[in-house]
Amino acid sequence: MHILVTGGAGYIGSHTVKELVKTGHQVTVLDNLSKGWRATVNKARLLKGELTDQRLLCELLQAEKIEAVMHFAASSLVGESMQCPADYYANNVTGSLVLLEAMRKVGVPYFVFSSTAAVYGEPIEIPISEDHPTIPTNPYGATKLALEEALPWYYQAYGLRYISLRYFNAAGADPEGELGEDHNPETHLIPLVLKTALGRAPEIKIFGNDYPTPDGTCVRDYIHVTDLAQAHILALEALAGGVDFSIYNLGNGNGYSVLEVVQATEKVVGKPLPKTFTQRRAGDPAILVASAERIKRELQWKPCYSDLQTIIETAWRWQQKNPLGYPKC
Ligand SMILES: NC(=O)c1ccc[n+]([C@@H]2O[C@H](COP(=O)([O-])OP(=O)(O)OC[C@H]3O[C@@H](n4cnc5c(N)ncnc54)[C@H](O)[C@@H]3O)[C@@H](O)[C@H]2O)c1
Repeated sequence: MHILVTGGAGYIGSHTVKELVKTGHQVTVLDNLSKGWRATVNKARLLKGELTDQRLLCELLQAEKIEAVMHFAASSLVGESMQCPADYYANNVTGSLVLLEAMRKVGVPYFVFSSTAAVYGEPIEIPISEDHPTIPTNPYGATKLALEEALPWYYQAYGLRYISLRYFNAAGADPEGELGEDHNPETHLIPLVLKTALGRAPEIKIFGNDYPTPDGTCVRDYIHVTDLAQAHILALEALAGGVDFSIYNLGNGNGYSVLEVVQATEKVVGKPLPKTFTQRRAGDPAILVASAERIKRELQWKPCYSDLQTIIETAWRWQQKNPLGYPKC
């Protein structure tokens, strides 16, 4: 298939592009490079452009005979979304609706959407299944949910077939060492801990050690980015094989506390790392762990790289090779 990957120059998008190309698909990436890196896209065509440019999207979908869209492009910083909700609605809702409109006009039938655990908000039960209530506690989660809520109507009226994938914490790097995680600003725990190991950050800040968890620090569900990429391929195959729509969690079902992640990283890098405990951050739930039983059962998804050690080792290998991240051009 020829697939359009929006946000394919970013972290999860670039890993997915690599796996799609390996599987034999043709890929075109649309990315405005606001957060992504040109250097990540070396196996596909990169078109620098905006999600909101409907003419460009229609021309692209038509000229390239695109059969499916994987939509990663978004703004995804929770804190920033609290400060600037308008930007999040503009990019994540308006931008996505422009994309859906272009798909509708041209008649592209399949859509795989990058959703998030943030759609659930404060958990009322753990592990969180897809049937858990969705009550987001920040504009980021609310904008992702807004698109999810539009999709059933697009299916009903226009026949758009879709799968929403709700990722928990994406982590790790391409096991072959070509791609890694380089967010700016970096807010994810594992790259922040590794930056401290590389001497590029003075210490690890742990937000809160008085949560109702075994060691008092927050517990999260980390899922390897290559396992996420594989799930996208399964989602695409499901749509092409006749599935009309679905929503799946992507996590590994095992939570690790912040302290456990730091300690596991110390083992991988072979030295103790400086750390301090600070105040809890507003809005951080104590525990977020997914149930990914549905996608395992229905699409036979089998995460292969999502044990904590492999996640950290692959991320560390890439960080050591690329201590300054991707070339900034
Ligand atoms: N990283 C995680 O742990 C995580 C967890 C849950 C959900 N997600 C979702 O997964 C997706 C990818 O996340 P990521 O960590 O790879 O983020 P990322 O910032 O690395 O990638 C997003 C890409 O989209 C591009 N982009 C943003 N707005 C655009 C626009 N208007 N037009 C064109 N390109 C645009 C950016 O330049 C970037 O390359 C996002 O939708 C995010 O909300 C990520």
